Amino acid sequence: MEIIIQPTAKDGSAVAAGIVARLLREKPDAVLGLATGRTPLLLYRELVQMKLDWSRVTTFNLDEYVGPPPAHPASFHCFMWEHLFRHVNVPKENVHIPDGLTKDVPAFCRQYEDAIRPAGGIDLQVLGIGTDGHIGFNEPTSSLASRTRLKTLTAQTRSDNARSFGGDDRVPHHVITMGIGTILEARQILLLAFGHAKAQAIAAAVEGPVTAMNPASALQLHPVVKVVLDEPAAARLSKADYYRWVYDNKPDWQII
Ligand code: F6R
Repeated sequence: MEIIIQPTAKDGSAVAAGIVARLLREKPDAVLGLATGRTPLLLYRELVQMKLDWSRVTTFNLDEYVGPPPAHPASFHCFMWEHLFRHVNVPKENVHIPDGLTKDVPAFCRQYEDAIRPAGGIDLQVLGIGTDGHIGFNEPTSSLASRTRLKTLTAQTRSDNARSFGGDDRVPHHVITMGIGTILEARQILLLAFGHAKAQAIAAAVEGPVTAMNPASALQLHPVVKVVLDEPAAARLSKADYYRWVYDNKPDWQII
């Protein structure tokens, strides 16, 4: 894992945008795995301002709530079109977001997985992290080999997301999410975490044991992971000084 600690979320998002932009310039038909939530908002804003060519890009979103229609303001469909897709020239048919209204969840999940392979596999997966260590909506105890499927949110995650729904009890219990096994198949992973609320989950994911109790710790098994943090999210890392030194002293050929 490469741990990149930046002073603020804005600085971290600029580093992340540089990584995504470089991929899109080098591989115009790249396949991106995308996250929603507060964390990638500044990244998406930066990417929009960069005016990159998205005409051959394909995207797969990590997850979606089961129940709310795509037009619901808290749905991840709505989020992605609002904050990214409508501002870039990505073809609508290249955008994939789990269908939270599907009548046959297992069949839909199989089709979602089956669409990733012919698209070429995910080149870069953008991730946020939950306060309980979830990635996608793979809550603690999710199998580290899991595939796209239905999951039930924990009370903590429902409470963390209550703001978008106007109250804890309005947050759906169920979601469709890519599995940890699905995420680990991406060629490169970019995990972002900003703010003090993420410090404990990040410390456990980066420096703790690999355990289903902190699903993000499974990223230790992936060979190409960059973790971009602001100072508050890095606050509980015991080797933060070492990570800073490594990043500040990278050989030129290794930059980004
Ligand atoms: C969203 C997702 C989740 C979020 C996580 C953090 O697509 O997969 O894992 O990344 O819940 O959410 P925020 O960024 O709102 O703190």
